[in-house]
Amino acid sequence: MCGIVGYLGDGNAYNVLIGGLHRLEYRGYDSAGIALVDKKGKLNVYKTMGKVSVLENFCKDKNVDSHIGIAHTRWATHGEPSDCNAHPHYSEDGNLALVHNGTIENYKVLKDALVEHGCTFHSETDTEVLVQLIEYVRLQNDCSLLDAVREALKQVIGAYAIAVIEKNNPDCIIAARKSSPLVVGVGDDEFYLASDASPFVEFTDNVVYLKEEEIALIRRHEPLKLYSLDNKENEIDVKKLEMSISQLEKGGYPHFMLKEIFEQPATLLDCIRGRVVDHGRIVTLNGVSDNRDTFINARRIVIVACGTSWHSALIGKYLIQDMCHIPVEVEYASEFRYSHPVLTPDDIVIAISQSGETADTLAAIKIARKMGAFVYGISNVVGSSIPRETHSGTYIHVGPEIGVASTKAFTGQVMVLTLLAMTIGELKKTLSPEDVAKLGNWILKLPSLVEKVLSLAPEIERLSLIYTYARNFLYLGRGYSYPVALEGALKLKEISYIHAEGYPAAEMKHGPIALIDAEMPSVIIAPKDHLYEKIVSNVQQVKARGGSIIAVVTEGDETIRNIADHVLEVPDVPECLTPIITSVPLQLLSYYIAINKGKDVDMPRNLAKSVTVE
Ligand code: F6R
Repeated sequence: MCGIVGYLGDGNAYNVLIGGLHRLEYRGYDSAGIALVDKKGKLNVYKTMGKVSVLENFCKDKNVDSHIGIAHTRWATHGEPSDCNAHPHYSEDGNLALVHNGTIENYKVLKDALVEHGCTFHSETDTEVLVQLIEYVRLQNDCSLLDAVREALKQVIGAYAIAVIEKNNPDCIIAARKSSPLVVGVGDDEFYLASDASPFVEFTDNVVYLKEEEIALIRRHEPLKLYSLDNKENEIDVKKLEMSISQLEKGGYPHFMLKEIFEQPATLLDCIRGRVVDHGRIVTLNGVSDNRDTFINARRIVIVACGTSWHSALIGKYLIQDMCHIPVEVEYASEFRYSHPVLTPDDIVIAISQSGETADTLAAIKIARKMGAFVYGISNVVGSSIPRETHSGTYIHVGPEIGVASTKAFTGQVMVLTLLAMTIGELKKTLSPEDVAKLGNWILKLPSLVEKVLSLAPEIERLSLIYTYARNFLYLGRGYSYPVALEGALKLKEISYIHAEGYPAAEMKHGPIALIDAEMPSVIIAPKDHLYEKIVSNVQQVKARGGSIIAVVTEGDETIRNIADHVLEVPDVPECLTPIITSVPLQLLSYYIAINKGKDVDMPRNLAKSVTVE
């Protein structure tokens, strides 16, 4: 949510910053802006509503000569998307420019106090309050920018990742973070700064992830320094980045979303590598086996997540209850945190998050830790906040997911949850070694089976043309296919803006069946599992009311083929692996419908990839 980039060195700051903003655009794309100090010491701030390409055009005839700068791509929180509300914001005297990701909760109080001191404001943002506050503190105390930032941040309640530059000291960037990510790239006598490492992956692989409430002092030709808010110097832990530039490009696909859908055979392979070995006979997640007793003795598991990750959490519930006989509750992290949760030290809380930065999920983790629960994280982004806040965990290792609609991260999460349930099941002896070996062997075959499902793409593209102009959709499934229905509906609504509801198929007769008519297509996920006969009845109930049906079925299913309008056949796999197989055609269906409607699938309206605000 909002992307920050910064550069200080001997190179061309503008080029680094614009390139970096393009990479971070997935985090928000309401407006973009850049602040540079030129060789004559002039602070130039350029900002425009719209995407980074609009800013780039705007800057074509501007003075962009600089070796230092900060830049921002915005997902609006305070104030509508506009040129004026775009970042960077600057102090009234034009000395400081600042970019910010997060929300300053007490901005109104701070703003009122600054107005009393004579400050005037031009935007509706909380960020302008912060930059004016820092400059006010600096002038009042006649102190350095570092001291001013530190003192100002002590007055702030809320979340922030910020970068500040000063016209009168163009050889320094001050950056700080609390609850919003920030990473410094340490190059050869030059520094990069960004919300994640993608903007500078081609320049350096030495990275320093800022910790909570840490301030970075970045100076030209000087080593990086880190301080705590109470002004103690912190140690610097330089990590090696494991990310390649090809992972950040479309690789010949028209959209990141399509690329990421088609990457799934490879990402599933990466996800299971080293975890399923010896022809499937050995399945281990180290994060689980390293905490053997905790998992064996768990009284209950509570899974917290948001959005798509919450859907994989629901699948996790079925997996863990089936294989480990441990009761599992699944909660929206945003509800969990305010629900006065009751946890004990023999509860395990699993937090699932692709980005590893979702504010509600992070808050839920903090509560769970405080209450003494063991907290396990499942995340994709190495070095992100959630893996650092949890006791143990697992990376899904599916590579950077750039399309805003989650696809490969969903299947990666479900895969890890499957491995997690199998590892616990074997430790608890609720699964026999034979059970593990049989399923492990199927898991090894899964990437090539997903490849087979992807060959349905041309058929799904044709099918999508029939349904492009439907105004509503129902997605129905039972058991493991119920969360798949929820996920299918979410994918459709977020990228095509068609209203879609996911339902447990049996619940349909308790209300939603009233919606069914010739105008309301239903997508029914009906693989041959232990609920197959039941879902056939649901298919018949929809047909009997004149609804059209797209059914995702197991290869060779003649029964549903004879009832449904269209069937998409997927390979037969054990029931617990069906979500990975059946979710892929639904991803493709929503992709093609959105494309037919001319929508921007990679950057759907109003959304952002990393939701670092409440
Ligand atoms: C949907 C989607 C969102 C995210 C949600 C949680 O396609 O991407 O619903 O799943 O915002 O994000 P993470 O997993 O990063 O915590």
